[in-house]
Amino acid sequence: MATDLKTIAFLGSPRKDGNTDLLLQEAVKGIESSGLSVRIFRLNLMNIKPCQNCGGCDETGECIIKDDMEEIYREIRTADRFILASPIFFFALSAQSKVMIDRCQSFWCEKYLLKKSLPPGPYGRKGLLLLAGGMKKEIGIQCAEATARAFFRTISVTEHRTLSYLGVDAKGAIREHPAALKEAFEAGEKLVF
Ligand SMILES: Cc1cc2nc3c(=O)[nH]c(=O)nc-3n(C[C@H](O)[C@H](O)[C@H](O)COP(=O)(O)O)c2cc1C
Repeated sequence: MATDLKTIAFLGSPRKDGNTDLLLQEAVKGIESSGLSVRIFRLNLMNIKPCQNCGGCDETGECIIKDDMEEIYREIRTADRFILASPIFFFALSAQSKVMIDRCQSFWCEKYLLKKSLPPGPYGRKGLLLLAGGMKKEIGIQCAEATARAFFRTISVTEHRTLSYLGVDAKGAIREHPAALKEAFEAGEKLVF
């Protein structure tokens, strides 16, 4: 068991103890059951400006905007495991998730223009995507999955697993789901195994 395996998580829901938050909390418990810790970024509470497409990162791979993304950039460089947890809003990832992802355009430039991928580290880079949607329409999951996949691959997370739950709308409704919280716990355990 690697004791220095580093996991970071992004919570894209504004709702504290909402469905996405509860899924993430269970995944974190699964990771903590191995004696590891997780740093959680609650994106709704952070000061992150949307990407300005200014071209400032084209030649350096570094964003020129100075805000809370600076800390996230540092952590993305050095982490081994990544969790993105988001509600489905208008058939997509939440705005909170998307603002952070768009600001990873600097990693896109580094990888695809400067041909410098983030190094895999000793444990490889793996991800977990957690999604909760109130409706029962798959299109929201498909759109969110496409964006999350592009995000993960851009930051050199070469593989990820997705757990998605539809038809959970009211705050905390995920607790009534027969398997969701258990599956999230197990996905957390497996992510760091
Ligand atoms: C602005 C907004 C847009 C939404 N759009 C969708 C949608 O397109 N598809 C869907 O399945 N649910 C949609 N929902 C419902 C949420 O996905 C649902 O309430 C979910 O459980 C919220 O997760 P949370 O408790 O983690 O915030 C929307 C909710 C809001 C507030």
